[in-house]
Amino acid sequence: MTGAVLGSTTACQGPIRALGYVGLRSVEPAAWVPFAAEVMGMQALPGWLPDSLRLRIDERAFRYLIVKGERPALDVLGFDVGDEAGMAHIARRLEAAGKAVERSMGEQAALRSVDGLMATTDAEGNRVEFFHGLADAADAFSPGRPIGGFRSGALGPGHAVLLVHDFAAQSRFYREVLGCGVSDFHAEPFPAEFLHVNARHHTVGLIGTDAAPGVHHLMCEYEHLDDLGRAYDIALRNPDSIGVSLGRHLNDHVTSFYLRAPDGFLIELGWAGRLIDPASWVPEELASPSLWGHVRHWLPAERRARAEAMTRAMGDAGVRAPVHVTRSGAFEWPPAG
Ligand SMILES: [Fe+2]
Repeated sequence: MTGAVLGSTTACQGPIRALGYVGLRSVEPAAWVPFAAEVMGMQALPGWLPDSLRLRIDERAFRYLIVKGERPALDVLGFDVGDEAGMAHIARRLEAAGKAVERSMGEQAALRSVDGLMATTDAEGNRVEFFHGLADAADAFSPGRPIGGFRSGALGPGHAVLLVHDFAAQSRFYREVLGCGVSDFHAEPFPAEFLHVNARHHTVGLIGTDAAPGVHHLMCEYEHLDDLGRAYDIALRNPDSIGVSLGRHLNDHVTSFYLRAPDGFLIELGWAGRLIDPASWVPEELASPSLWGHVRHWLPAERRARAEAMTRAMGDAGVRAPVHVTRSGAFEWPPAG
């Protein structure tokens, strides 16, 4: 494992518009139904393959696909490149980098509900797809519990953070081949780099690890703080389900906690992430991953202690960040719908 290295290309300059979808392999996809619907408030529906699920959080046909696998793993990251021109642009970038590109995927495109689909692998073998035209569902999003919705749309459904073994190679792939821009990075308490493709502070994150590469966590964002609080209430009934306690990130200003999902995946549930201007953003090194909270049960004890010391130093210095309220300013009683 090598540390976070800020390479020469830091600006956002590729055709990727947003994260579109994420696929996970699960040993028991059915276990995701109550977790997704009753804990997170997503809509869980049968997938298009046997023993699979699709999870909705907005008007689109799906944002997460849970497919049957021998062991838990990231199945795919899907990026929206907007249109045919975007597909051609990303294909040129991949081919210039010597990456194999899978095309003419008619049947696969139908399984993804997209108009066009192409695939490659990143520097560590994770499957990465590019698409345009992800279809809307025939009916409106129907949450699994009465929440006021997730923040998605043009920002995409959230972010994906990968565990990375060869940090420099993976960073080069996402920055220089895909054209993601660097938002910020830190070397301690673990090497990490955060990358943007639109105004969402980060859509992809990389965390250096000595363990096997894979997915570290997926993040999705509620529109309303109260919905995040209720998710925390539900999680507190089973404290072992909390992988990272409630806290606030220094970089994207998100208030969040991390749940242990079925198969051991971490899902960050957040609220009020800040928006950035990719055209003028200057990457910076972070003094701490978090402003407060976020006790990281996934970290080895020594690194966890370092993380907690860095977070305490934020408090000792009185560092505070503005709150970026989304739609939750409107008080609705009785609730709409
Ligand atoms: Fe995150």
